Amino acid sequence: MSHPLLDASGISHSFDTELFSNVDFSLHPSESAVIVGRSGSGKSTLLHIFSTFLKPDEGKVALFSKDLYAQKDADIEAIRRFEVGIIFQSHYLFKGMTAFENVEVATMLSETKIDDALLEKLEISSVMKQKIGELSGGQQQRVSIARVLSKKPRIIFADEPTGNLDNETAALVMDVLLDYVKEKGAGLVLVTHDEKMAARCNKMYTLEDKVLKEMV
Ligand SMILES: Nc1ncnc2c1ncn2[C@@H]1O[C@H](COP(=O)(O)OP(=O)(O)O)[C@@H](O)[C@H]1O
Ligand SMILES: [Mg+2]
Repeated sequence: MSHPLLDASGISHSFDTELFSNVDFSLHPSESAVIVGRSGSGKSTLLHIFSTFLKPDEGKVALFSKDLYAQKDADIEAIRRFEVGIIFQSHYLFKGMTAFENVEVATMLSETKIDDALLEKLEISSVMKQKIGELSGGQQQRVSIARVLSKKPRIIFADEPTGNLDNETAALVMDVLLDYVKEKGAGLVLVTHDEKMAARCNKMYTLEDKVLKEMV
């Protein structure tokens, strides 16, 4: 079997109280995994730990076969910029710019090209000349997903990416994410409360009572 994209072991983290301890998690190319659990259980924190943003109190995160938090800050930032796709609920779009310019900035930063087929699939081709402020919340969400996928990340972390979308648009976003994973041999780690989205992933984990468990 191929090397895992992500291999985390013995992860523990506390803020005021302990959120979770001894978490093991791994993800291989072309795999999608979903993490479910109650609000406040630490799902977002775990995604931050996996995705370069937060060094855990204990444990090791191997991302692309390298010890993530043992690397220099500049190297961690380069991984975040070039290799990791992060879709969190608050989308970081530049409001005064058009949708096209927003995607263009992302491709310039990551030295890639805008993928017209991706814009078609996300059904945003026709709104790319409009300013972000003129778009609906659901359209903005899809522009931010286009930004992330245009970077051609090797792994995608998505924290409730369909939370603000209607069912049909949510299903379309999920299609795009899973197609991307399949076509590119990338990985997807998803956090969602939506059972239909969760059921479409290869593996399901629950974060409950400070323990991450794989459901089989
Ligand atoms: N940066 C932080 N500083 C202090 N406490 C935090 C921080 N981030 C999250 N928490 C706390 O950790 C707990 C888990 O939060 P979070 O990971 O966002 O859970 P979930 O995504 O499962 O709802 C919450 O009680 C939250 O208030
Ligand atoms: Mg959360």
